[in-house]
Amino acid sequence: MRQQTHPDQAPDAADAAAERHLSELEGWLEARLATEEETLTLPRTGRRYTVLVPSAPDHDRLFAEAKATPDSTLPYWAEIWPSGVALADVAIARAPELVGVPVLELGCGLGVTAVAALAAGADLYVGDYSPISLALCSYNGLRNTGRAPHPLEFNWRDPLPTVLAQLEGLPGFSIIMAADILYESRDIVPVLELIDRLLLPDGVLWLAEPGRKTARRFLNTAAAAGWRGYTERATGPWPGGKIAEVGVHFLERPTGATHWGSSSAAGAPSPEPARRGPSGKDRALASARRPARDDRGVG
Ligand SMILES: C[S@@+](CC[C@H](N)C(=O)[O-])C[C@H]1O[C@@H](n2cnc3c(N)ncnc32)[C@H](O)[C@@H]1O
Repeated sequence: MRQQTHPDQAPDAADAAAERHLSELEGWLEARLATEEETLTLPRTGRRYTVLVPSAPDHDRLFAEAKATPDSTLPYWAEIWPSGVALADVAIARAPELVGVPVLELGCGLGVTAVAALAAGADLYVGDYSPISLALCSYNGLRNTGRAPHPLEFNWRDPLPTVLAQLEGLPGFSIIMAADILYESRDIVPVLELIDRLLLPDGVLWLAEPGRKTARRFLNTAAAAGWRGYTERATGPWPGGKIAEVGVHFLERPTGATHWGSSSAAGAPSPEPARRGPSGKDRALASARRPARDDRGVG
């Protein structure tokens, strides 16, 4: 197990702190749901992780309770999704880009992507509106890598100033990651605005999605606003035999835009941003297409 060691902290002290943190999380989780372990293998890099997930009966209970409660959100955080696994593979494959880098993952779920990003050496912040998701993500990070992410509980649908006030004081992020968070139309604008605010001027968005209409609309909206990039595709096999073709999009913000920590002079022409990865691949994402309805609950 790799340990996160503060320069002034002896490895034994770091071990003890990680163990204490793990047992605190264990106690907190035990009071809320039953869990079980699941081992998965990342299809591209072959990395194997064992993660704590809700037990099958508690998974079903959480969904049944949410469905019976008006206006509640379904607990999609309680499952392992192909996009999260695909993005985990990308994090391992591109580990040199993550070492020591401030990274934010939006909608971390159970933390499969987070585990890989931590293993790759990222200085990882994870955001989700589910406190149980954040606890499981921290637990799974610690269990698999000896490191925990910085958890941030917030709803990106809250008005931007409210969320930003909560995130105030954070550094800008060089990379923002997200896996399968776009399945409701109402999320498109708030998510794009939040990313625009939190990503550093030369930062990159790594977005994994399994072909949902809402994600396509998000990509079209971003493209119309000048975001550019390229796409890699992954076909699994995915845990639980789920079938999906996942697109992992690497997007850079429009040049000359104003954003978090940026002092880009109004009207001053900015150079084209450096492109990472293969050129021309799915570049200039499709221009606006017809709007689609929400598409929750697809593969
Ligand atoms: C389909 S799950 C994907 C989880 C994980 N990224 C993965 O791929 O396994 C969507 C995640 O986004 C979170 N989420 C959805 N809407 C949110 C919102 N408005 N604010 C914060 N988190 C949200 C959910 O709690 C869940 O963890």
